[in-house]
Amino acid sequence: MKLAIPKERFDGETRVAASSDTVKKLTGLGFNVVVETGAGALSHVSDAEYAEAGASIAATAAETYADADVIFKVRRPEDDEIGLIKKGAMLAAIMNPHGEKERIAKLAKAGVNTFSMEFMPRITRAQSMDVLSSQSNLAGYKAVIDAAATFTRAMPMMMTAAGTVAPARVFVFGAGVAGLQAIATAKRLGAIVSATDVRRAAAEQIESLGGTFVMVEDDEDGDGETAAGYAKEMSEDYKRRQAELVSEHIKKQDIVITTALIPGRAAPVLVTEEMVKSMKSGSVIVDLAVEQGGNCPLSVAGEVVEKYGVTILGHKNVAGRLSVNASALYSRNLFNFIQPLVDTEKGVLAIDWEDEVITGTLLTKDGAVVHPALTEAK
Ligand code: NAI
Repeated sequence: MKLAIPKERFDGETRVAASSDTVKKLTGLGFNVVVETGAGALSHVSDAEYAEAGASIAATAAETYADADVIFKVRRPEDDEIGLIKKGAMLAAIMNPHGEKERIAKLAKAGVNTFSMEFMPRITRAQSMDVLSSQSNLAGYKAVIDAAATFTRAMPMMMTAAGTVAPARVFVFGAGVAGLQAIATAKRLGAIVSATDVRRAAAEQIESLGGTFVMVEDDEDGDGETAAGYAKEMSEDYKRRQAELVSEHIKKQDIVITTALIPGRAAPVLVTEEMVKSMKSGSVIVDLAVEQGGNCPLSVAGEVVEKYGVTILGHKNVAGRLSVNASALYSRNLFNFIQPLVDTEKGVLAIDWEDEVITGTLLTKDGAVVHPALTEAK
């Protein structure tokens, strides 16, 4: 069984889908791992380290993909890469299914069995395969570090002979995986932290990390959490009440980190232009939702902008700014995903197509797009 690790071609992608640790483990499962030369360069894994771990190094993409049974990638392949994939091969990557319907149709046509890692069901068994968690956790941490590096004041309170430095006030929108790590990180740096979320369950988690929950009364439809554990789109009335509450609170904040997402939809607008205007000069906003449209309409994907004296960081691929850790954790997610699919005695893939982990992530199979999120009209 050949398993290919191509070099990422997606603009700004720093991560790689295998570490030397996972190459060793994959080899142990019986895979012949082939890594494209330079694939690990931006995550500081050299060809020599991959080779030492048991991989062969291929000089070109064509050589890497040739006859591979399994392909691990960070991002979906480009069109020219799709042409290199063998019919019936298995591809696992962060596919961005809602934004890449045409490319997914092409993968189906090419006979590729495509798995979208971000569709991993949130069940206990699949926690170690959950790429949204592994990457969002790093992004939440890095968002606070980026904000602190941009902020022209200190984070903790400091009592000195020359006077007292006031602690920074950090407000986090969305207390999912990224938001909770942002809260924990800001707290460790000594800031006064508060956060808001539409899911009731978030309150206890925010408070257990030492943050204050800024709460909007329940929507008439009840809690903002879906059965899958994600947020749903809230009613207009809820959004209005949330904006009112937040606009008073935000005026007093120094750093705002936004992480709010609704799967399959544009990110909700939570920090309006008026709110930005009301913030103190020198404040910093980090919009982690910028690639899904942004929680702040003034943020620009891939750019740092200043508006009304407020610096707004719109870095893309924030987890990739910690490429070494992001690649290592992502690679482990992929290893944990494939391990149960291998019949090590026979040296073949033995996929149970009815398994929840498979049905949850499988986008294309045997020439067709099969995932309900893509086939069922919304
Ligand atoms: P996400 O990345 O989809 O969204 C981030 C956060 O934004 C969420 O907490 C969401 O409720 C919040 N949000 C959405 N719209 C909002 C609005 N209008 N105002 C304020 N906040 C808003 O969420 P993530 O990080 O993927 O986590 C979702 C849930 O799944 C969490 O409860 C998390 O603990 C849980 N989870 C469960 C796992 C498992 O059981 N295997 C693994 C990872 C997370």
